[in-house]
Amino acid sequence: MTDDNSAQGPSDKQQPRKRIVVRRNGPYEPEPGIPIVDHLGVPIAAEAPMRLCRCGQSQTRPFCDDSHVARGFTDARDPRRAPDRLEVYAGQQAFVFDNRGTCAHSGFCTDRLTSVFRLGEQPFIAPSGARLDDLLNAVRRCPSGALGIGIGPKRDASLSDVSRPPQIEVSKDGPYRVTGDVELVDEDGAPITQNAGASQEHASLCRCGASLNKPFCSGMHWSVAFRDPVPDPMREPTLFEWAGGYPALLDMTRIFYSRYVPEDPLLGPLFAEMSPDHPERVAAWLSEVFGGPLFYTERYGGYRRMVSQHIGKEIRPEQRALWATYMVQSADDAGLPSDPEFRAAFVAYIEWGSRIAVENSGAGATPPPNMPVPRWWWVCNATPAARPSATASDAQAANEISVALPGPDEAVQFEQHIRPLFRPMDRSSMLFAFDLWNEADVARHCQQILARLKAGTMPCDGAWPAERVALFARWANGQNPPT
Ligand code: HEM
Ligand code: SF4
Ligand code: FES
Repeated sequence: MTDDNSAQGPSDKQQPRKRIVVRRNGPYEPEPGIPIVDHLGVPIAAEAPMRLCRCGQSQTRPFCDDSHVARGFTDARDPRRAPDRLEVYAGQQAFVFDNRGTCAHSGFCTDRLTSVFRLGEQPFIAPSGARLDDLLNAVRRCPSGALGIGIGPKRDASLSDVSRPPQIEVSKDGPYRVTGDVELVDEDGAPITQNAGASQEHASLCRCGASLNKPFCSGMHWSVAFRDPVPDPMREPTLFEWAGGYPALLDMTRIFYSRYVPEDPLLGPLFAEMSPDHPERVAAWLSEVFGGPLFYTERYGGYRRMVSQHIGKEIRPEQRALWATYMVQSADDAGLPSDPEFRAAFVAYIEWGSRIAVENSGAGATPPPNMPVPRWWWVCNATPAARPSATASDAQAANEISVALPGPDEAVQFEQHIRPLFRPMDRSSMLFAFDLWNEADVARHCQQILARLKAGTMPCDGAWPAERVALFARWANGQNPPT
């Protein structure tokens, strides 16, 4: 899900809407032609007809393996769910609509626009607390469809929703985020009832099996600690993965070209004629540069196309400096990771690339016609796991690990003996892959972790004392082999 400033309405209603059939007590069956992507925006290959797991138990997630049958999965709505009640909040510039019964608790609104969406305060929404364009962006980013906006006291779909092609995003450890005006129907073809004011353009569908408001997500995946398996947990993340993939980069470029560029007297004229999908193009380029799939090469034409767009533009140094400053500001606004390692690599590329853009755009410049798209990496190999953090809590925890040693005949318990071995730094270094404070995650990867601990390569700031490695080995060897 991304924000968008284009004044587009929901997609053309003349086109037959794509459908997802919600099987009774069973999987989702999307019609062929609805692309499925992972949380980084990378397409997930699948054969039609496709069945998507919604009981949360499949071993082949996101695809169904009929686990719902063995588990006796039922899709009844839970009477404890939040009531279906549409609240209307009047502001000076607009009305904001919210149905807590639809909210999937993704936190996109409360994390991003705290002046409007106020956790724990009454009223929850203060619509006059931000610029109208920021308010629109926040509403459009809501993945569940709980939020809406209107200039009058009626939800206006043309303002609240963005026109997008159909897509299902398998969010990390969370719901399916369906966008693009896809119709949800039951086995008999009848529309699935939605709460009052819910968006028709997007919805979040439960994937963990525990929602109180099936088939929609109610945020229960947090409570049940729903987690996806990680293919190769010991691999260093790419910058693309660490950034949050294509959706996060697109979020950033859209903010850049909607919030900063149009109003700037130096940059505005340069981009006045830009193509409508320019933010997508730059996000695809950055995805590729940061180690992701070859999105730009495959979708738009690679290095030659990119360079051709700068030739002759005669970009001035002061324009470049502003471009770089706004890009870094947009990274903050979009909530890209702010850790030193990521930002060092990110800013290095923005500086490097923008200076090459100036060079290539100069009068009489002759850029080399064929160059590979750069593949950027962490600066000086400073990956997220490469150094202990100096924040007070981490430093304290690093010095104060108190290991409760079990007796020789006592069972080793994860919560009591194993979890305290991992400091906040260890946990945050590995969170991109799995959670060292989560028993199921650690159990799943325990033999790989043990191998690293024995080799002294984990944690990266110094090997554990032998007694701690032995304690972990005792616990790991009592786990079932990974399935
Ligand atoms: C890291 C630095 C930069 C990157 C990665 C980058 C990337 C791109 C990409 C991917 C395109 C679109 C190519 C296409 O149409 O397929 C583009 C076009 C363009 N870039 Fe850059 N760029 C950078 C720096 C700059 C700077 C510093 C400026 C000016 C201050 C600039 C001005 C433009 C303009 C005017 C276009 C054409 C937009 C249009 O008319 O559609 N770029 N750039
Ligand atoms: S689902 Fe929408 S309303 Fe609920 S927390 Fe997320 S952005 Fe806010
Ligand atoms: S995926 Fe959110 S409640 Fe199931």
